[in-house]
Amino acid sequence: MKINGKEYRTIWFDTQSKDVQIIDQTKLPHQFIIKNLKTVKEAISAIKNMEVRGAPLIGGTAAYGIVLAVKENNDLNFITKISEDLIQSRPTAINLKWAVDRMIKKLSSINKDEYLSVALKEAKDICDEDEKFCKNIGLNGLKIIEEIYNKKKNTVNILTHCNAGWLATINWGTATSPIYHAHKKGIPVHVWVDETRPRNQGANLTSFELNEEQIPNTIIADNTGGILMQRGDVDMCIVGTDRTLSTGDVCNKIGTYLKALAAYDNGVPFYVALPSSTIDWDIKNFNNIPIEERDPQELSHIEGLDENNNLKKVLIYPKKSKSLNLAFDVTPAKYVTGLITEKGICEASNKALKKMFK
Ligand code: MRU
Repeated sequence: MKINGKEYRTIWFDTQSKDVQIIDQTKLPHQFIIKNLKTVKEAISAIKNMEVRGAPLIGGTAAYGIVLAVKENNDLNFITKISEDLIQSRPTAINLKWAVDRMIKKLSSINKDEYLSVALKEAKDICDEDEKFCKNIGLNGLKIIEEIYNKKKNTVNILTHCNAGWLATINWGTATSPIYHAHKKGIPVHVWVDETRPRNQGANLTSFELNEEQIPNTIIADNTGGILMQRGDVDMCIVGTDRTLSTGDVCNKIGTYLKALAAYDNGVPFYVALPSSTIDWDIKNFNNIPIEERDPQELSHIEGLDENNNLKKVLIYPKKSKSLNLAFDVTPAKYVTGLITEKGICEASNKALKKMFK
């Protein structure tokens, strides 16, 4: 998708420098910086510090992290050991382990002298596949938006939480892909963008990328969705996910659960968009999902532009107060209207997921 009118993906291998390049998302929307990752440790820290984030992009970065590991030390013991650090860098998004396992499996069956070329191809395949899957999620989700538009004959208002946009994937996004496809088809859409405290991925990233594609959107405080739904100002919700269990329970950015409850209470359809790489087929009880707890400073401090247009971080809480920063929550399947996947739309249930994917 576009930034300043130019098409980008979120991660790529630069054939000149032989580095992996990313868009540093901690600086958006105020600064557009392309950053080079030269070592696997740099890839790990980019994931930890959220220079790259969003489940599918974390997966893509982990895949390229293995490429960087191979470049540093062409030894399977080293690569397998460092891959554990990659997997631990953010615990909730299942795509991370999925991508690392896929890379290691590929390397385990070939000769050492092929490692680099095979790792490069596999990382690119993972990213290309994600782009294709997200495009298909868009085409499948478009049908729901079209149906609402055909009934309503007026702008379709969609609420989304966090950033499950193209910046969270390789391209297109998951939750935003149906929106981009509807916009390209000429269907009038307007997006309610949850600010998504504490890191403001909605305001800083979702609104930014929708603006770049000229899609009307309005940022709202995280607590505003409920009254908008009561007023009939939300036609549907679409969110992404970091890990969806085979039971249909959906783990996503903190606050998603409360939006789902409000949607349920008001009869607003609540859809979750995901590629199959985000499905966890192993964990059966959502209480066993590792929920990332991040630095409380992400709550107590906020960053923005000062009067001289420089990025500045300021403390907004009482100095003595404690804070708790849980990054994700779980929406039980019963509140999910449907899962929009690359293969089609299905019920959030074990039976429907198995039928679609196994
Ligand atoms: O903490 P983040 O910014 O990585 O969280 C991102 C989300 O919660 C997204 O909704 C999720 O990863 C899906 S991305 C298509």
